[in-house]
Amino acid sequence: MKFLRFALTCGLAAFAFSACSKQSDSAGGGDGQITVGFAQTGAESAWRTANTDSMRSEAQKRGIDLKFADGQSKQENQIRALRSFVAQGVDAIVLAPIVETGWDPVLREAKQANIPVVIMDRKIQTADESLYTAFIGSDFYEEGRMAADWLAKNAGDRTNIVELQGEPGSAAANERRKAFADAIAKHPQFKVIDSQSGNFRRAEGKQVMEALLKKHGRNIHILYSHNDDMALGAIQAIEEAGLKPGTDILIVSIDAIKEAVQAVVDGKINCTVECNPLFGPKVYDAIEKILRGEAVEKVMYNKDELFDSTNAAAALPTRQY
Ligand code: AHR
Repeated sequence: MKFLRFALTCGLAAFAFSACSKQSDSAGGGDGQITVGFAQTGAESAWRTANTDSMRSEAQKRGIDLKFADGQSKQENQIRALRSFVAQGVDAIVLAPIVETGWDPVLREAKQANIPVVIMDRKIQTADESLYTAFIGSDFYEEGRMAADWLAKNAGDRTNIVELQGEPGSAAANERRKAFADAIAKHPQFKVIDSQSGNFRRAEGKQVMEALLKKHGRNIHILYSHNDDMALGAIQAIEEAGLKPGTDILIVSIDAIKEAVQAVVDGKINCTVECNPLFGPKVYDAIEKILRGEAVEKVMYNKDELFDSTNAAAALPTRQY
């Protein structure tokens, strides 16, 4: 069956194979073995590396043949990868979409080929929800709300906020930004005096923070960063400017990678909201159910915590990413 589908679409495959960087994590092809095509966004952050590791190691544990495609932060690469998975006749596709929009045509191709698609990590916007079977990931809106609520309780008389946004157009940046704006609107003392993208990357977080410090100087009281990598980059910029991160500028961030939880213990980050990347097992549980013809929930959120000075030290020894 798989071979027939492959033979029928080999013309398309020839194009697609040449157009994206892809690799298979196991020999694959054995009887009854499940083949999954996974289109990852790229490797922009420590969170992403942990997420890729979780997907790869769990596939190996279960004997799943995982075809991994690194999108290198470009939507067109991910679309090419999806087309190649369809051409190869994989049993299921997992997509971690870089941006929210523009997926309908390629998802329609997967649907026509009867290949179920699980969207993971970041949501998509589509007029046709039947184009994917399930979404699994964190509730980014809730994360932004938790960060803002923490500030409302802990910022004292600090009011002026600069925001480091994630990748433009991504659900992670869009929802974290909106949730934060909605929540602080209830606390009129707060003002976002500047908001710029650092693309979820440490080096860009540092660069953007340097520019913000030049522009606003001591007028910055609070940094809200859409992820820990950018916050850690910003900390370098703050220290190089002769200021104390966590004291002169309060820092709230998202992901709770181990390095950031350590920074909370060190007093350099004040709060980091968890976005757990280790959900490979949950993704394959869903895929195995779908392939057995069982129903799965359309939206499955991971449970995330918040770490600040009250609980970071206790959590640190068991942080896995
Ligand atoms: O989509 C999740 C976000 O993407 C993480 O918060 C960030 O670190 C990553 O790159």
